[in-house]
Amino acid sequence: MSTPNPVASAPAITALRRKDLLSIAELSPEEIGLILDTAEAMKEVASRPIKKVPALRGKTVVNLFFEPSTRTRTSFEIAEKRLSADTLSLAVASSSVVKGETLVDTALNLEAMRPDMIVLRHASSGAAHLLSRVCRSSIINAGDGMHEHPTQALLDAFTIRERKGTLAGLKVAIVGDLLHSRVLRSNIHLLTKLGADVWVCGPPTMFPAHLAQMGVTVTSRVDEAVEGADVIMLLRIQLERMQGAFFPSQREYFNVFGMTEARVRLAKPDVIVMHPGPMNRGVEIASEVADGPGSVILEQVANGVAVRMAVLYLLAGGASYEETA
Ligand code: CP
Repeated sequence: MSTPNPVASAPAITALRRKDLLSIAELSPEEIGLILDTAEAMKEVASRPIKKVPALRGKTVVNLFFEPSTRTRTSFEIAEKRLSADTLSLAVASSSVVKGETLVDTALNLEAMRPDMIVLRHASSGAAHLLSRVCRSSIINAGDGMHEHPTQALLDAFTIRERKGTLAGLKVAIVGDLLHSRVLRSNIHLLTKLGADVWVCGPPTMFPAHLAQMGVTVTSRVDEAVEGADVIMLLRIQLERMQGAFFPSQREYFNVFGMTEARVRLAKPDVIVMHPGPMNRGVEIASEVADGPGSVILEQVANGVAVRMAVLYLLAGGASYEETA
């Protein structure tokens, strides 16, 4: 019995006309819509007794993670397996990177074995762009330094759309470490492209340059940011990227910016609370909020698999699969 094509019922599916997924900044609203629509069809695969379709049969995907990851790495691996790709996750700590081999040399040596796609997470902003220039394989950015984390923003948008029906006109309050967050940058690009009213809030010491020019409202008053919000998105305080002290203590940060139940009550009654993970409970978010009725944090994780299946499928040339399935 042939496996049904999960995207056959999705509206107006065409291949994404690009080799790589490097950033949200480079995507049009139509491309974002195509990825989200395709992810909707892909999500159905997770409810089947046999969670597998042949879309990427014969394709090889290498996962190359130079930074720690729980959610992104596992959901890419699960997505690849659900699409029947052959997958390999390089354990960087036991690779020749520890002997000093560069990122480009590592990638070129992997390329010599003819993979079709490389999923890259790296501490340097621009690492995925660099590989896209030297590699024949499709490069998918799984987070580059403080630059972008495109699939995170896509799964966030998917989760908001699923809960609210649309992103246009929603008030989205993003609160936390604005300075170091690649999730923030990708989300600002995506949410503003889809018509959301985006407010960003954090300590003034952590406002990145040019934030106000990105089409968002900037404030350091958290009550103002969350008042009437449809969506509250918390950002992790990234202690590992901090060179100096941006606030007096984590306890002080929680008192001023931490998302408590009292602050959530300032938002709309049906507000959803999001966090990309990993969470610092008691720093940027109270446990009662993280585990509370408005929290969609684990839905975000579940949706990450469908969104990454969609990205892998479309970059591989979704339309050509449909023609031959
Ligand atoms: N959200 C996210 O990127 O989580 P990981 O670092 O665990 O992949």
